Amino acid sequence: MDESSEVRMSRRDLLIAGAVTVSGAAVPSAMAQPPQAQAGPVASHVSFSVNGKPASLKLDTRTTLLDALREHLRLTGTKKGCDQGQCGACTVIVDGRRINSCLTLAIMHEGAKITTIEGLGDKDRMHPMQAAFVRHDGYQCGYCTPGQICSAVAVLDEIRQGIPSHVSADLNAPPQPTGAEIRERMSGNICRCGAYSNILDAITEVGGGKA
Ligand code: FES
Ligand code: FES
Repeated sequence: MDESSEVRMSRRDLLIAGAVTVSGAAVPSAMAQPPQAQAGPVASHVSFSVNGKPASLKLDTRTTLLDALREHLRLTGTKKGCDQGQCGACTVIVDGRRINSCLTLAIMHEGAKITTIEGLGDKDRMHPMQAAFVRHDGYQCGYCTPGQICSAVAVLDEIRQGIPSHVSADLNAPPQPTGAEIRERMSGNICRCGAYSNILDAITEVGGGKA
């Protein structure tokens, strides 16, 4: 074996050794699973109050509040539209604030007070907002309506509390339930049937403003 073949062998050996080293390092890391994947879904307990009644659930930690309400508590008045925060059909009131229940995990609401459309009223004892929606024909198919009504109730509370919106002209004066204020604040609740003008009339009537 001459000097050049020794050099060639050395390079070949080096390449083989390098390949072995790389594959030896890469294979275990590629096969390694994240701890969660090995452990499987994680369940957790959560307790909150829904429509004045205590609820205690053991849930996969990935369960949204929307699915907890609909699938676990059978409160199907809250609707799943887009399931990604775009339509407002899933709006519920949590500790006085309206939220999209599809965008939040149930386990984040330990101890919370949750109100759904079922908690606002029923057909024999309707909430004033529900009655106004009926009076003004504020719906057609009705799919968006529970979210619209929950949102509308919280919107009027926001206005009463003096919380400004993007269209509030004077941040030093309390906002009023004008058409512009209500339209802006309700803009996250989509109605595919286009019942917007009647929805606005209903909310305006309850808010005591002018559409
Ligand atoms: S279902 Fe939650 S925003 Fe559409
Ligand atoms: S009433 Fe049909 S989507 Fe609003």
